[in-house]
Amino acid sequence: MTYQHILCETNAAISTITFNRPKALNALNSELLDELSRALDEIAQNETVKVLVLTGAGDKAFVAGADISELATFNSLEAKLFSKKGHDTFNRLPGLPIPVIAAVNGYALGGGSEVALACDFIYASENAMFGLPEINLGIMPGFGGTQRLPRLIGKNMAKEMIFTGKMISAVEAKQIGLVNKVCPAGTLMEEVLKTANIIAQKGKVSLRAAKQTVDNGMNVDLLSGCAMEMDGFALCLASDDSKEGTRAFLEKRKPEFKGRLGK
Ligand code: CAA
Repeated sequence: MTYQHILCETNAAISTITFNRPKALNALNSELLDELSRALDEIAQNETVKVLVLTGAGDKAFVAGADISELATFNSLEAKLFSKKGHDTFNRLPGLPIPVIAAVNGYALGGGSEVALACDFIYASENAMFGLPEINLGIMPGFGGTQRLPRLIGKNMAKEMIFTGKMISAVEAKQIGLVNKVCPAGTLMEEVLKTANIIAQKGKVSLRAAKQTVDNGMNVDLLSGCAMEMDGFALCLASDDSKEGTRAFLEKRKPEFKGRLGK
């Protein structure tokens, strides 16, 4: 499928979606969100894909936020529908059965930080800048920032970022746990793909179960989360992948996971 505002490429088990509106610093408009949603449908249906990477075109921005020229035209109802479109689209990322890595290669502002936050983890280049500058526009985050950011970095740090609208560097973002790894300029995709390739060697059943258990468990109390873990663990043990993984260990060879649940 071809798209106007994103690029979607699959190499073996790794798909990459690139936000591709470099003249507008890859700002998210409604059409782009629709395209992202369609691309995620495609990826979800592709059984061979084991990892998804999101990044931005050019070397200046990952995504500089929602498209302000489109925002400026919205009445309150249209704003609600746009916010819902963003939420529905970004919620697809934790809903995907595979890990999603954000490769943040420049500005990740507003909706740009919010889409990165909806990924499983973030690697950033040294020049990346993170922020929720909506307050400077007289608005507030609308694609999940008020909810996902405090859950990741804590309520007070999140409030400071949201109330001041200030940007923070990749190094500061790493210090507060927003980013997993900061990479020297020019090596970001190499580092992301190194990690993506390690993940792509694993079994799809256990990747899916582990992702869902961590995500769902974070939204409930500890004991309920532990119960989810028991179910996920039991599901994994019913899979062909677990039979292959344990057999390969005992036979002292590398496992060849097929991603099958088993009968
Ligand atoms: N929407 C639309 N266009 C944008 C944009 C955005 N979010 N961010 C940048 N652009 C456009 C600029 O208008 C400019 O276009 P022209 O060349 O046609 O004038 C082009 O991208 C380059 O931008 P700048 O000239 O501003 O580049 P700079 O290097 O001087 O500054 C920047 C870079 C600091 C990222 C600055 O562009 C900026 O502050 N952008 C806006 C960031 C922002 O406020 N994001 C939040 C948006 S609201 C939101 O996201 C709501 C939500 O949660 C759903």
